[in-house]
Amino acid sequence: MSQRTFSIIKPDAVRKGHSGAILAEIEKAGFRLVAIKKLSISKAQAEGFYYVHKERSFFGSLTDFMSSGPIFVMVLEKDNAIADLRKLMGATNPANAEEGTICKKFAGSIEENAIHGSDAEDTARFEIGYFFAGYELV
Ligand code: PPS
Repeated sequence: MSQRTFSIIKPDAVRKGHSGAILAEIEKAGFRLVAIKKLSISKAQAEGFYYVHKERSFFGSLTDFMSSGPIFVMVLEKDNAIADLRKLMGATNPANAEEGTICKKFAGSIEENAIHGSDAEDTARFEIGYFFAGYELV
């Protein structure tokens, strides 16, 4: 069944000029780009997005990193989009990521790991709503 997920091309990948290559991988894998925009987010906006991780030891570092430069936020659609994007991304830590995954090809470390993808339907709904208004989803 067609499903929507939310993704971010993170500041490390944008800085290194990998945005186009990552988008090509996503489209090649059959995702439809419902919406995309380039943004720079503040530390407070990053904290709001990652609030579920606020007790984790890396929260400060992760939110500094995510507000360190431009990102692309996007909404993607296909059958089984949430699980399929996570598979295409590979393991969060590039040291554990499978060959051929976006994380393996483009990530430098567990923090500078190139791409975010929603992990469940409720988080996808929250994350899409955090960055996009309904009229932007076409
Ligand atoms: S996941 O993908 O949600 O299952 O992974 P998780 O381990 O819960 O990590 C959630 C996000 O935190 C980032 N992360 C870290 N950042 C900095 N330092 C360390 N050690 C670290 N460990 C995890 C990880 O990249 C996840 O970011 P998102 O944007 O959710 O993918």
